[in-house]
Amino acid sequence: MPLLRHVLLGIVLLFLHTLASSAAKDTVSPSQALAGSNRLVSNNSKFALGFLKPGNESYNNHNSFLGIWFNKVPKLTLLWTANGDNPVVDPTSPELTISGDGNLAILDHATKSIIWSTRANITTNDTIAVLLNNGNLVLRSSSNSSKIFWQSFDYPTDTLFAGAKIGWDKVTGLNRRIVSRKNSIDQAPGMYSLEVGLNGDGHLLWNSTVPYKSSGDWNGRYFGLAPEMIGVALPNFTFVYNDQEAYFTYTLRDDTAIVHTGIDVFGRGFAGTWLEGSQDWLIHYRQPIVHCDVFAICGPFTICDDKKDPNNNPFCDCMKGFSVKSPKDWELDDRTGGCMRNTPLSCGSSKDRTDLTDRFYPMQSIRLPHNAENVQAATSGDQCSQVCLSNCSCTAYSYGEDGCSIWHDELYNVKQLLDAASDGNGVVLYVRLAAKELQNSERKKSGILIGVAIGASTGTLFLIILLLILWRIKGKWIIAHPLEKSEDSIGIIAFRHIDLRRATKNFSEKLGGGSFGSVFKGNLNDSTIAVKRLDGAHQGEKQFRAEVNSIGIIQHINLVKLVGFCCEGDNRLLVYEYMPNCSLDVCLFKANDIVLDWTTRYQIAIGVARGLAYLHTSCRDCIIHCDIKPENILLDASYVPKIADFGMAKILGREFSRAMTTMRGTIGYLAPEWISGTVVTSKVDVYSYGMVLFEIISGRRNSSHENFRDGDFSFFFPMQVARKLLDGDVGSLVDASLKGDVNLVEVERACKIACWCIQDNEFDRPTMGEVVQSLEGLLELDMPPLPRLLNAITGGSHPVTPQYFDSL
Ligand SMILES: *[C@@H]1O[C@H](CO)[C@@H](O)[C@H](O)[C@H]1NC(C)=O
Ligand SMILES: *[C@@H]1O[C@H](CO)[C@@H](O)[C@H](O)[C@H]1NC(C)=O
Ligand SMILES: *[C@@H]1O[C@H](CO)[C@@H](O)[C@H](O)[C@H]1NC(C)=O
Ligand SMILES: *[C@@H]1O[C@H](CO)[C@@H](O)[C@H](O)[C@H]1NC(C)=O
Ligand SMILES: *[C@@H]1O[C@H](CO)[C@@H](O)[C@H](O)[C@H]1NC(C)=O
Ligand SMILES: *[C@@H]1O[C@H](CO)[C@@H](O)[C@H](O)[C@H]1NC(C)=O
Ligand SMILES: *[C@@H]1O[C@H](CO)[C@@H](O)[C@H](O)[C@H]1NC(C)=O
Ligand SMILES: *[C@@H]1O[C@H](CO)[C@@H](O)[C@H](O)[C@H]1NC(C)=O
Repeated sequence: MPLLRHVLLGIVLLFLHTLASSAAKDTVSPSQALAGSNRLVSNNSKFALGFLKPGNESYNNHNSFLGIWFNKVPKLTLLWTANGDNPVVDPTSPELTISGDGNLAILDHATKSIIWSTRANITTNDTIAVLLNNGNLVLRSSSNSSKIFWQSFDYPTDTLFAGAKIGWDKVTGLNRRIVSRKNSIDQAPGMYSLEVGLNGDGHLLWNSTVPYKSSGDWNGRYFGLAPEMIGVALPNFTFVYNDQEAYFTYTLRDDTAIVHTGIDVFGRGFAGTWLEGSQDWLIHYRQPIVHCDVFAICGPFTICDDKKDPNNNPFCDCMKGFSVKSPKDWELDDRTGGCMRNTPLSCGSSKDRTDLTDRFYPMQSIRLPHNAENVQAATSGDQCSQVCLSNCSCTAYSYGEDGCSIWHDELYNVKQLLDAASDGNGVVLYVRLAAKELQNSERKKSGILIGVAIGASTGTLFLIILLLILWRIKGKWIIAHPLEKSEDSIGIIAFRHIDLRRATKNFSEKLGGGSFGSVFKGNLNDSTIAVKRLDGAHQGEKQFRAEVNSIGIIQHINLVKLVGFCCEGDNRLLVYEYMPNCSLDVCLFKANDIVLDWTTRYQIAIGVARGLAYLHTSCRDCIIHCDIKPENILLDASYVPKIADFGMAKILGREFSRAMTTMRGTIGYLAPEWISGTVVTSKVDVYSYGMVLFEIISGRRNSSHENFRDGDFSFFFPMQVARKLLDGDVGSLVDASLKGDVNLVEVERACKIACWCIQDNEFDRPTMGEVVQSLEGLLELDMPPLPRLLNAITGGSHPVTPQYFDSL
């Protein structure tokens, strides 16, 4: 009864099948294969494995891959593929099974051929494959789970899993590299990789040979050039380097967090977290930010131009005389195939007809191609062009300060620089073209001019529109959003300029203008941010990132938190948490409807002191704020003070001191050392703090003109305080609008501290730590001496005017 047997078998199989898919399993065994739309799910439900076709119905993809993805993320995010370069092509129905030799294999059911196999040396006859909770697919002995023959973590694709190692096993010679995918549909390896060198340096590489982004040096916690590594970007990142191994890895602090890090199809390293609430990825880290900084992103014979479109969309153009090699790939964001010649070079084959000799087309304001050959013999532009013409493989030359350079074969990595006017060096690249190409152009010059202006023929224009549409779709994924979740889990986010411009509505709502740039209000994903556009930061990207890095790790309840930054071209922006309440100057001096009561003022004084003490002592390298003033003290919704603008000296470098010395408005807070030009220490902040403390007490500017009645400096508030302290009558010093509702012990303490803080000699001033202790009543202070500067003003015979303070 063979028929019955078949039917019975069918029923049993169907039963097994339903059983299997209802309780998702995590194991493939000799008796349990995985086929069709079935999937393995890790025991914690975080990862899934199965056959899938990337793309959607409208993109008619016939290739399927065995892949691993995040089970709970609705936007399919492929993390690993087994057969990226050898897809299963419809109508084959593949099966994942343990083959006769014990290896895990993808079997083509129709032809019984093996499409992919783990090809390990199996020493037992009981292997099974298990999808582990960390996303690792392991082939192991079923009786001994530590007998592992193969694991997917050793053969990563474009994703670095938490717990996986990237780098070398020096003993076996295994090198685990992260390799980009060709595009979002085709899972074949792309041109870009993230690798660890045998000597421990991490790089992004093109074709495994040309490095275009370095990780910087490992400092024990993160690589120097990637400050964003701190925080959620790559939690608990470690780097191991010894005789046996050289690798980096990271672990999640919270295993349920969904973190995706790796290298995208554009050759950029990234790290992001899935936000359950907004159902979207939050990208913390992306490098390089600008497409054109990825080596040869546009492929050969192209010009990369990040500025071409404000939305940063179509950034690749063919050089003149070339057209897109594979428009289909370009549509899918894979432009690395580049462009090809429209007309072959004659290459001396028609020597007798000079009108057919190859010509050169000049290109200006560009970054020259990769891999030039220097020709010493050629000492003029003419000779240089002759050298090039005489060799068939020569495709371009340039003659400049460095003499004659020629290029062979493909021209890679050409980038459009800013407009010609700003490009002083005037280096011109002469690209070799068939004579016909240039004759065409001469005949219809105007047409070509327009063509050059748009940078595209009608064909590519169509493509550009297509790309624009595609990029729109991708756009959502690319935008970085601020974290809306817990406070302490935030990393530093590298923002794109265009996202910040959008968030701030083209920098329209100005919150304030400081000495180093203006601050704008912005909105990202329903949370408000403050974006500071730095005017004077002319540092290189490397240094800027390093400084942002050192500032980003400084977190304290009394310091405004740095959320992210932007460093693109000449743009340097810092993104901070937004403070809904007024800054201290507004609350104290300007807002008529707000009177801060004494308790609040005293808490503000303590908070600011704590924030400064932290800056001075608790973080790794001491940070001097250098610009403490009420404008830089922001109040949150419950009037907790937060110091803004710390670390500017680091970020701005030399520009900072220039800004300081030309700053007129805040001169009333500057310690005498600033004026005498000696080296400043953290005591300059103590001085400024003292000045602010006087203002908190009085509710008025120290330098306000009411304090200088007709040139009588006995009314200069700090002077009054010093005197009243001696008289034992501090109550009369307090802001009249408090109507005497104050704690006199605290007032006296505050007055004493303020006087000590503004001592001319920095050694006489307390540290911020001592200030905190004194305010808290833990440290008793002596009666302060009169500051000498004040002595000079009040007792001296020199005619001192209010302008004295303004002109210091
Ligand atoms: C799977 O997880 C459950 C708890 O969720 C646990 O009881 C069980 O032992 C796990 N199975 C394996 C094979 O780890
Ligand atoms: C499928 O992909 C195409 C192009 O990538 C896109 O235009 C379309 O909206 C997608 N359709 C769905 C249902 O996601
Ligand atoms: C398997 O064993 C053979 C012979 O011992 C060896 O040459 C080969 O490199 C091994 N393959 C793997 C993947 O370890
Ligand atoms: C596996 O090998 C062991 C001996 O190494 C043998 O006893 C056992 O029967 C084998 N099992 C199968 C299923 O072939
Ligand atoms: C399991 O495998 C490991 C690694 O091969 C081995 O060290 C261990 O002795 C094995 N345990 C048993 C019980 O066979
Ligand atoms: C990539 O490198 C290999 C050798 O490392 C070379 O043969 C190949 O031509 C390179 N590919 C390109 C596109 O240059
Ligand atoms: C970080 O990772 C290292 C090595 O992987 C581990 O020893 C350490 O306990 C981890 N720390 C935290 C906080 O998870
Ligand atoms: C052309 O240049 C290439 C690359 O430098 C060189 O290998 C080749 O020999 C040159 N050919 C001639 C004819 O000089």
